[in-house]
Amino acid sequence: MAQFLAFFVFLLSLTAISTAGNVCTTGNVLNRPVNGQAIYWPSTWRTNETAPGLEAGQSCSWIVTIPSGYYAKLVISGKMNGNSSYFKTVDTAGNVIESTHEKKEPYYFPSSKFTLIVSNEAAATLGFRITWAKYPSTLQYSAVIGATPQLVNITEGVFAADFSAVTGLSLLAFPADPKNYHTLRSTLVFEGNSYTGIYISNLYLLYKSRNQWISSGNTIYVVNLEARHRQDQLLVQDAQYTKDITQYVEMDCAMNSTCNVSVDGGDKKTAFISVGSKTDVLYWLSVHVDAFFTVYYGSQNQEGYRISLSGYNIPSNLPLTFGGDVIQYVITKGQASMQYQVNP
Ligand SMILES: *[C@@H]1O[C@H](CO)[C@@H](O)[C@H](O)[C@H]1NC(C)=O
Ligand SMILES: *[C@@H]1O[C@H](CO)[C@@H](O)[C@H](O)[C@H]1NC(C)=O
Ligand SMILES: *[C@@H]1O[C@H](CO)[C@@H](O)[C@H](O)[C@H]1NC(C)=O
Ligand SMILES: *[C@@H]1O[C@H](CO)[C@@H](O)[C@H](O)[C@H]1NC(C)=O
Ligand SMILES: *[C@@H]1O[C@H](CO)[C@@H](O)[C@H](O)[C@H]1NC(C)=O
Repeated sequence: MAQFLAFFVFLLSLTAISTAGNVCTTGNVLNRPVNGQAIYWPSTWRTNETAPGLEAGQSCSWIVTIPSGYYAKLVISGKMNGNSSYFKTVDTAGNVIESTHEKKEPYYFPSSKFTLIVSNEAAATLGFRITWAKYPSTLQYSAVIGATPQLVNITEGVFAADFSAVTGLSLLAFPADPKNYHTLRSTLVFEGNSYTGIYISNLYLLYKSRNQWISSGNTIYVVNLEARHRQDQLLVQDAQYTKDITQYVEMDCAMNSTCNVSVDGGDKKTAFISVGSKTDVLYWLSVHVDAFFTVYYGSQNQEGYRISLSGYNIPSNLPLTFGGDVIQYVITKGQASMQYQVNP
């Protein structure tokens, strides 16, 4: 009886706290409910409501299990205050995403689990929802990539494909808006020919790394789990044509605008790259006099080759105009910078 009373007093105190803000604990395990319904935290919160308060000084974690054949979708609403406060997710491959302000832009995770960690000094707000769903059952395509690369509208609709190439594949994502590219989180990349392969990462994190990702095997599976209605592009190349390019700098200038790009490869090869139907007008270009500037429509190979100029010969050839869906400007070494305009 005394124990029961103590528990009752404990419950009362929890209720008292929750009027100021919720509290949470570490090591919670959330499994997909058999009825397939969403799990909310706190359980009465819904995503169309403002995020409820979270008491100061919380340190919490939820381990979310994901059955094979399913993925999980996490929507967080909340804001942290204080320097060392954060929301953090860790996926099954160990990839980490940390933030302090979440505006319900979804995260997607493959099986077998992901962890959500919340730690706050000052009072904060937090509400989240987890749903589970099956992978798309159909494969849009199964493509062998060779000399010609493939450009895919990756987040427009649900999309699942496997790509293979003799020496492996190179991926580069080109978000529609380089400042706001969270839609790339719904695209997952696996080594192998299905979601049962080895999970690597999502396109959001691969883009954030600011360089190409190269597979270790010769087949990959790429799946965009939900239609995002965005014009984010994914460039898939045979890695034999990209492996020696140590840095790719994406040319993401808006249509009808003028932009600058620069790179310094030291003694290694680098490239500026642009995708999408348009024309690049190179007004100004500086490449080391002993370096070469070579333009390819497509991948860096004989089929894509257009023109090659030495750093010494460039000034007398400006401006230069190139048009195509995938243009690579490969620089053999050293510092390079370019001023260009994008025209329809
Ligand atoms: C949220 O949605 C539910 C069900 O659709 C509705 O009953 C509720 O009034 C909504 N709440 C707000 C704050 O809009
Ligand atoms: C938080 O940041 C402020 C300003 O940058 C600093 O003065 C303060 O010491 C920091 N507090 C903690 C707990 O790190
Ligand atoms: C992507 O989709 C848009 C709109 O549907 C279309 O105009 C564009 O050509 C597509 N791009 C590719 C590479 O398929
Ligand atoms: C770019 O300029 C062309 C020609 O002046 C115009 O037709 C087009 O609408 C412009 N596009 C954008 C996105 O500003
Ligand atoms: C871009 O490059 C040109 C040519 O070097 C230079 O005159 C201009 O100031 C640069 N613009 C920016 C914004 O850096």
